[in-house]
This record gives sequence, C-alpha cells and structure tokens, in this order.
Amino acid sequence: MCGIIGYIGAGEALPFLLKGLEKMEYRGYDSSGVAVVSENKIKVYKKCGRLKELENALKNEELLECSAGIGHTRWATHGKPSDINSHPHTSKSGKISVVHNGIIENYISLKNFLTQEGYKFISDTDTEVIAQLIDFYYNGDLLDSVQKAVSRLEGSYALGILCSDEPDKIIAVKKDSPLIIGTGENENYIASDVMALLLRTRKIYRLQENNIAVIKKDSITVYNPAKKVLNSENDFEFVNWDIESTNKGNYEHFMMKEIMEQPTVISKTVSSRIKNGEIYFDDFDIADEYLKNLSKIYIVACGSAANAGVVGKYIMEKLIKIPVEVELASEFRYKTPLIDESTLLIVISQSGETADSLAALREAKRLGAKVLSIVNVKGSSIANESDYVIYTSAGPEIAVATTKAYSCQLCILYLLSLFIANKLNRISSDKLYECINKISSISDKIEEVLSKKDEIMEIAKKYKDTEYAFFIGRNLDYAVCMEGSLKLKEVSYIHSEAYAAGELKHGPISLIENGTLVLALLTQDKLFDKMISNLREVKARGAKIFAITTDIHKDKISQIAESVFYIPDFSNEFSPSLSVIPFQIFSYYSALLRNCDIDKPRNLAKSVTVE
Ligand code: M6R
Repeated sequence: MCGIIGYIGAGEALPFLLKGLEKMEYRGYDSSGVAVVSENKIKVYKKCGRLKELENALKNEELLECSAGIGHTRWATHGKPSDINSHPHTSKSGKISVVHNGIIENYISLKNFLTQEGYKFISDTDTEVIAQLIDFYYNGDLLDSVQKAVSRLEGSYALGILCSDEPDKIIAVKKDSPLIIGTGENENYIASDVMALLLRTRKIYRLQENNIAVIKKDSITVYNPAKKVLNSENDFEFVNWDIESTNKGNYEHFMMKEIMEQPTVISKTVSSRIKNGEIYFDDFDIADEYLKNLSKIYIVACGSAANAGVVGKYIMEKLIKIPVEVELASEFRYKTPLIDESTLLIVISQSGETADSLAALREAKRLGAKVLSIVNVKGSSIANESDYVIYTSAGPEIAVATTKAYSCQLCILYLLSLFIANKLNRISSDKLYECINKISSISDKIEEVLSKKDEIMEIAKKYKDTEYAFFIGRNLDYAVCMEGSLKLKEVSYIHSEAYAAGELKHGPISLIENGTLVLALLTQDKLFDKMISNLREVKARGAKIFAITTDIHKDKISQIAESVFYIPDFSNEFSPSLSVIPFQIFSYYSALLRNCDIDKPRNLAKSVTVE
C-alpha cells in the first residue's frame, strides 16, 4: 500500500527512482511522483495514473541533474487520485518534501493547528500535514525538526524526507509501515521493498520501529526515539533473492507466472521440512510442554491468507483435535478474544506487513498468547514480532492476486498440523507416514493439473460474460470455494460469492435463476452425494454448473454439470492444494478475456499496510 523510494549519492537520482517505482508499482498504482533536489532547489514531478504517465511527463521536462531524490507510488487513502494529491508533498516554503506510506490519524487536528499558524494546504491528503509540520519546526537542522514533527504524529508512517537547505541527506522514518535502507558504492537508498533495491545492492538494513535514519551518500546514521545512535555494520544483511524472480520472464502476466511456479515453490517449502519420513521445523523451536498444555488455536489473517486459515482449521481440528477459530484480523483486534497462555495464535501473511494482522498479533501477545507466524517475506514486521516464524518459500510474489503464496501456506498448515498431532500422540505412525507421502507428492500432482490449463481456458470462454457466480462446496471444498470466489472477483470483477452448499437453501438460492453460473467443488468422497443433491436443486432452478471433481465421479457428474474439470484422485485431506488450481486458472482466463488489468486489479494493492 504505497511504495516509497529514495536515493542519495554520486550518481543520478531520477533513473534510480523510476526503476525502483516500477518494481514497487504493485503496492499502489493510482498515481506516482518524484522530488529531486539540486543547488538548494527542490523540483517535484507528479502525475495521476500509472507510472508510465509520470515517465511520459518527464520526457518533456527539462530535468535537473540531481543526486538526491525521493519517489512514491500511491494507493489513495485521503483524497481521490489526482496530480495534486499525489506524493511527494512539499511544504509551503518549498523547503521540505515528503513521501509517505501509512495513515496519519490525527492529521485534522494538526492541520487546524498549522492553519492557525498561517499554513495553507492545497491537497486533501494527510501527508501534506507532515511536510508542513516539519517546515514549522525547521530552524536549520532537518533531523531536529523531523524528530519534533514525528513526536506529534499518530498513526502509521514510513517516510522519506528531502530538504532543499540540506541537499546532502535524506531522512527516513519508520512506524508500522516497512522501510528498508540499502547501501551501495558512494550511494545509499531507501525503499518500501527490497525488490526496488536489488538492481543496485543486496546489502540492506531494516529500519526498526520508531527509528529515524539520516542517510548521506557515504553514511547511514540511525537514531532511536531517545536520539541515541544505533546502527552497526552487524545489523546489515545480504539478500540472496534471484533478480529474475522479480521479472515476468516469458509470461504475459505475473499472475500466470506465479500460478505455474507452484510446483517448484511448494516442493521447496515442503522438502526442507521432511527428513527421513519425519517432519522438522528448524525454524520453529516450540517446547513440547507448551504444546501439551495447548487448549485452543486462533488463526488470524486477512483475505486469501484467512482463506488458507479456514483450510487449516478443518485439518487441525481433525488431526490435532483442538478447537481452532479462524478470525479476520480486522475483526479480531476489536473484539474480546478469549485468550490466555494456553492459546496459540497463528498469523498467516504473505507480505508480513498487513496492518490488521500485525495489530492482531500485538493484541494477542498483550493478552498472553504465544504467536506463531507463517510468513513469506523474511524480516518483515510480522515475522520480527512473532515468538515463532515459519517461512513459506514462495519467493517474491508480485501479482496482487496471491496464488503461489496461498498454496505454500496450505502446505505449511498441513505439516504443522501433523507435527503438532504427532507431538501430542494424536496420530498413528501409519497415518502420519501416509500423510507425509501425500504431501510430498503435491507438487507432482499440481503439475498434472497445470498441464491441462488450456481446458480451463476453454471453459472460461463459455462463461466470460457472466455477471455473477456462486462457488459451492462442503467442508474443505467450501474453504477452497472461499478462495476461488475471492480470486474470481478480484481479477475479473465478476461478482461472486462462496457458500457452504448446505446453506444455499437458507436464503442464497433465491438468487439462482436461468443461466446463473454455479462453480461446484466435489472432492470430499463422503459428501459427494450430498453435493449432487445440492447441484440438482440449483439445476432445477436454471443454473449452469461448472464442476471440479475427480475422475472416479465421472458418470454421476457428467449427467448434471454443463462443464467439468477433473483433478487427479488424490487425498480428501490435502485436496485443497489441487482443487484451488483450476479456480486460479479460471479466474486468470476470465480476467484476460474480459480485458482486465490482471496483475494490478482496480482499487487494490498488494501489501495492505493501512487499517
Ligand atoms: O500479505 P498478506 O498475506 O497479509 O495479505 C492479505 C490479503 O491482503 C491478501 O491475501 C489479499 O486478499 C490478496 N490480494 C488476495 O489475492
């Protein structure tokens, strides 16, 4: 949610800023802008629309040669997307320019205060207040004025700050939004995401909560809120990500590239945790005694990560036999969760930066629970603040619609369920062995599904003009339908809802009419006949059915469904890993056929760092 970038060095700032913004455009894409400083003058260029609008605008400009600058790609919170509301925001004196990721909750009272002091505002944003407040305190010492201004801010903010009177530095501030500092030869950088820095450096420093960094071309000095200098060489880390994984390769869209990467990343996620037929979590050193006293598990997450959590609940309750509640993080944090030391809170997050999930984590810790997070991004805030972290090995996920990270989360949830069940002696060794074998073969089975992706494209062609769709299933199939429905609406803008099939007749069936598309998932053998009855009910009311099931049910399903896609007959427990794939592919092709912006769907952003 918004990406910020900054450069200071002996080279040219602007090309670096634009390249970095391109890598972070997935974080927000309704407008973008840059500010550069040269000869004690700040020049700002900003444009509503995609980054290419800014790049085009810059082509016609007489550009300053400059070696310091900041940039921003926006996901609007305060004020609609427009040139004026785009970042950077500059103070009325023209001295201070700011880029911001986050939300300033007390901006109205600060704005009133500054207005009384004679400041005028031109945008609707909360960020403009920050620039003016720093300007208000500025007396020739940028660090001092930033420290004073920040002490008055409430909310979340990663900031990049530029000052025309002090062109030898940029200042970075972090609270509840990610901010990374990179260091290079005679130049240093800031960014919201490591990916923006990889073309220049792999040596990075993660700015910690409430700290402020003064970044010059040849030095980085970090201050804690008590103004004490903190950083040391030991706090830098090397990132060994493959730059290629941040490119589209031969694919037209990141979403399809990431769908096709699933066998590889699942295999990476799983194989490192299975040795000699046993499950190991080197990254998760939890005491057996603690597990024995466990009375309840909460899974807390947002969006697709929460959908993965619902799969986790079904499997954990079955295997571990402990009550598991799945809560949306945005709800969990404001209710009265019944938590104590015998509760384990599992936070699931691809980015590790989702504001609501992070807040839920903090609340659970405050109430005494231990927190285990399942996270994809190393060193992210959720990973940092958890008692235990299990990393998925999905690699950088760039399409806004998650696919491979969700699939890796499922595999970790399976392994974790088996691991805990085994520790608590709730699973026989035969069953454990059988499950481990199944999980080890998931990536091969997914390959089989992916090899038939053209079949799904043909099915998507039939239904591309549909305006709404229902996803129905029972038990684990229902959990996967939740993800299928989210995927479809997110990328193709077809309105869709997921229902537990048995629930349809309690209300939603009134929406079924001639031609309504119903996507049905039937992988749970015990529930197959119940599902068939539900399908007859919707068919009797005119629904067109697209069913996903296994070959063994061919005879029955072909009599009732208009379209069928067969997945390999695999395992009732771990079927979600296979059954979600056709939904991902169907969503992708539906979006493609409807000319949607697949990797950057409207109104969305990849990493949701505001409440
Ligand atoms: O980074 P996180 O996993 O915490 O993100 C949670 C959701 O914002 C995310 O899963 C979102 O729902 C995806 N766009 C769905 O495809």
